[in-house]
Amino acid sequence: MGIISNIWLFPVLLALFLVPSLPRGEAAYFPPISTLVSEQLFNSIFLHKDDNACPAKDFYTYQSFIRATRWFPRFGNDGSIGTRKREIAAFLAQISHETTGGWATAPDGPYAWGLCFKEEVNPPSDYCDSNNKQWPCFPGKSYKGRGPIQLSWNYNYGAAGEALGFDGLRNPEAVSNHSETAFTTALWFWMTVQRPKPSCHDVVVGRFRPTKEDLAANRTAGFGLVTNIINGGIECGKGDNASVDDRIGYFRRYAELFKVDVGTNLDCANQKPFG
Ligand SMILES: *[C@@H]1O[C@H](CO)[C@@H](O)[C@H](O)[C@H]1NC(C)=O
Ligand SMILES: *[C@@H]1O[C@H](CO)[C@@H](O)[C@H](O)[C@H]1NC(C)=O
Ligand SMILES: *[C@@H]1O[C@H](CO)[C@@H](O)[C@H](O)[C@H]1NC(C)=O
Repeated sequence: MGIISNIWLFPVLLALFLVPSLPRGEAAYFPPISTLVSEQLFNSIFLHKDDNACPAKDFYTYQSFIRATRWFPRFGNDGSIGTRKREIAAFLAQISHETTGGWATAPDGPYAWGLCFKEEVNPPSDYCDSNNKQWPCFPGKSYKGRGPIQLSWNYNYGAAGEALGFDGLRNPEAVSNHSETAFTTALWFWMTVQRPKPSCHDVVVGRFRPTKEDLAANRTAGFGLVTNIINGGIECGKGDNASVDDRIGYFRRYAELFKVDVGTNLDCANQKPFG
């Protein structure tokens, strides 16, 4: 070992030391999600996504899902192996309901038809909240549901685009034209705290700490609270709801494929939506 190798050793050790503080370098500490979701498992979950009947045929690929998870290294990497699998099952269940092509008597059952759609059919509006000055709508653009989570509203497109490096307000179509972008918007929504809502991730991995308001509204951790975060205003706190039941149905099927239990508080019938 001469002086030359010592000169090289120093920058190498320094680099190893510095890498963890870089945002993308963080990924080095987390095993890739493919260790928990093989392509075979993914395909057995989404049995019909590439059917001719599905408008999203060939759009949502396994590879783009895996690539998208690298933007959010903590997704499916927080907690015990059971928690990690349960989070992935819950995420895939929620995006399946959002994009479902299933019906009661569908081949392989109603819960084998996730990821069938990439954009909302017959949107009732352009989902422009003109009171939101931070993310002003761009003339002529629609912020209707797109991608796995059916990202909606100018404020979500604006914030997601800023976090992920595209112009969500001028180019909302990017979410349904580019498969990896589509998955990253769904993961962005899942991982991001939007007060007063916690993130779906924090709820599923046990990091959610309810406020007094949450406790008074029965908002305790579980799959039902995730549904509340995603679409509580329409589906929660009004008794039994077919959409909520569809989300739960997907979750039960996927949890079985991942061999994890579904946990408690699956429903949000007794929870008030976030104010
Ligand atoms: C996205 O696709 C639509 C048609 O589906 C097209 O009109 C639009 O130009 C595309 N946008 C981008 C950014 O590729
Ligand atoms: C909370 O749940 C209970 C039943 O478990 C119900 O009686 C009560 O009305 C709920 N509270 C709110 C605020 O919805
Ligand atoms: C239940 O979900 C549907 C969508 O399936 C929604 O349109 C409806 O408003 C909800 N019903 C109630 C009673 O909240």
